[in-house]
Amino acid sequence: MSNYHIKHLEEYFQVYRKSIRNPESFWDEVAEEHFVWRKKWDKVLDWDFSKPEIKWFEGAKLNITENCIDRHLHIRGDKTAILFEPNDPKEEAQHITYKELHEKVCKFANVLKDKGIKKGDRVVIYLPMIPELAISLLACARIGAVHSVVFAGFSSTALSTRINDCGAKMVLTSDGSFRGSKTIDLKGIVDEALTQCDSVESVLVAKRTKTEVTMEEGRDFWLEPLLEKAYADCEPEVMDAEDPLFILYTSGSTGRPKGMVHSTAGYMVYTAYTFKNVFQYREDDVYWCTADIGWITGHSYIVYGPLANGATTVMFEGVPSYPDFGRFWEIVQKHKITQFYTAPTAIRALAKENLDFVTEYDLSSLKILGTVGEPINEEAWHWYNDHVGEKKCPIVDTWWQTETGGVLISPIPFSTPTKPTYATLPMPGVQPALMDENGNEIKGNQVDGRLCIKFPWPSIARTIWGDHKRYKETYFSAFDGKYFTGDGALRDEVGYYRITGRVDDVIIVSGHNLGTAPIEDAINEHQAVAESAIVGFPHDIKGNALYGYVILKETGESRNRENLKKEINQVITEHIGPIAKLDKIQFVPGLPKTRSGKIMRRILRKIASKDTSNLGDTSTLLNPEVVEKIMEESL
Ligand code: WT7
Repeated sequence: MSNYHIKHLEEYFQVYRKSIRNPESFWDEVAEEHFVWRKKWDKVLDWDFSKPEIKWFEGAKLNITENCIDRHLHIRGDKTAILFEPNDPKEEAQHITYKELHEKVCKFANVLKDKGIKKGDRVVIYLPMIPELAISLLACARIGAVHSVVFAGFSSTALSTRINDCGAKMVLTSDGSFRGSKTIDLKGIVDEALTQCDSVESVLVAKRTKTEVTMEEGRDFWLEPLLEKAYADCEPEVMDAEDPLFILYTSGSTGRPKGMVHSTAGYMVYTAYTFKNVFQYREDDVYWCTADIGWITGHSYIVYGPLANGATTVMFEGVPSYPDFGRFWEIVQKHKITQFYTAPTAIRALAKENLDFVTEYDLSSLKILGTVGEPINEEAWHWYNDHVGEKKCPIVDTWWQTETGGVLISPIPFSTPTKPTYATLPMPGVQPALMDENGNEIKGNQVDGRLCIKFPWPSIARTIWGDHKRYKETYFSAFDGKYFTGDGALRDEVGYYRITGRVDDVIIVSGHNLGTAPIEDAINEHQAVAESAIVGFPHDIKGNALYGYVILKETGESRNRENLKKEINQVITEHIGPIAKLDKIQFVPGLPKTRSGKIMRRILRKIASKDTSNLGDTSTLLNPEVVEKIMEESL
């Protein structure tokens, strides 16, 4: 029996039981057999959720890029590692072999070193989905620098907040980016962000759109000439298992974004293991995940997980709707994609279009389909199954989070029978628990509760950068001795999990995790706004859309409402990015508050969802009369 590659349901149950009975020996075996180490660990696991402190493979020495690149060179050096498909279908795709990837990463790493980047330094990466993005992550990892990728759709304010939070010494960007028919001026956004940042010493700029940019003497450098001169070999820095590999920011329900810190060995082992099993990856497969590397999905399942398995991983620069809604399926046909991994929001958007966009293409290469980011509704699941998978491809509904580093609950294709809208069963080593509101675990099946994890898995985030206290409060304080996910879930009669959605103030819009607080903070910056509250409401394509309740200052009362709405969305775009724009804005005289001054979002959520039949108890409110008023004028 192989622990590493599960091939049927019985084997899954055997492996799972083993992984729970003795997690240490389970992960010890996986780590021993499938990776290269400079030195083996002294201890597999050391953990204490009350501190919280989690260490995997302590004492081990390694470099993740040796596992993702070097070790493949003699067996699959000429195999395509990264297959780059540009935004414009007329531009040729690029096949970067493992050998070429090695050279590119080494050169890039040497450039970073030349510019003074050392082990432990933070490098912020603000690049579009071009090969340089994946290469730059690996180049940082090669020399032990900590990368922090900021999604290139975020605004300059969001970028500067993240640069300052992690104290980055360098920013990597490009002149611009192509997104469908649009060109975005990335360098201009970086320039603006950097007016607010003191820590950044240099900016390296890749050329993509050939748009004109300003280069600040002594700070900004074009990447290409530096790469040309760079030496093509770079010894990997030998890292400790628990050295940080990267920081990735995610929204919280309060305040500033949280810089989740992932460490090296555990992250590598877990993402590689889950990639192999969730996608049943085989040597000649061509795997495509449509996410952006700016999100955790791209880190774990475009870059690290696939490359650690010697896979061919596709990077797509564009969008599903350009030049038309057949673009995804055209790419599947063109590159004979075998595994296709995308978000429910993309499926819903494509399902709305004419079916000819799908049927026009030959999708027979597909073996496995995946979804991630939010619950998939039944209709979208069936459309995906019927028209894309042609009923032959199992759909893996993978549940996980930025914080978890890798997939925690998912079917294993050809082993776990799938069930629409269910993420089904935990991965080996993962011990979910459903909790009631009093903090007790709910045992048995056909129950629902708050989803916690009872035991560490190797790729759990180790801390929040610069704020361990917040890490403890957010994830380990709601339920004693358990990691709290922030999600609600139910367990059906056979023990399958279905994720029902967030139970905190995080809203998932088009698969993106948006906290209410940062959006409210942004809106409140508008000079006419006194206070605001954001809630989610169901949306056909986005899953959830944002509804804002806004109280105006007296000075704002006389202003034109439509203009105000535009300005409010403009402020949000500037502070966070267009993904956080509000679909509906209602101006209200007040917000329903508890006696302790907390906004009763539950009521606002119901009104926004047009579900006002049972608002629950409003008698404890400080201002119950305002609820009537809000209902009367709701949009
Ligand atoms: C939140 C995490 C994991 C990478 C992308 C999102 C929701 C994620 C599913 C799923 C239902 C899901 C959860 C989770 N979510 N996958 N398959 N079914 N909900 O990462 O931005 O950290 O968001 O996304 O609510 O907590 P993220």
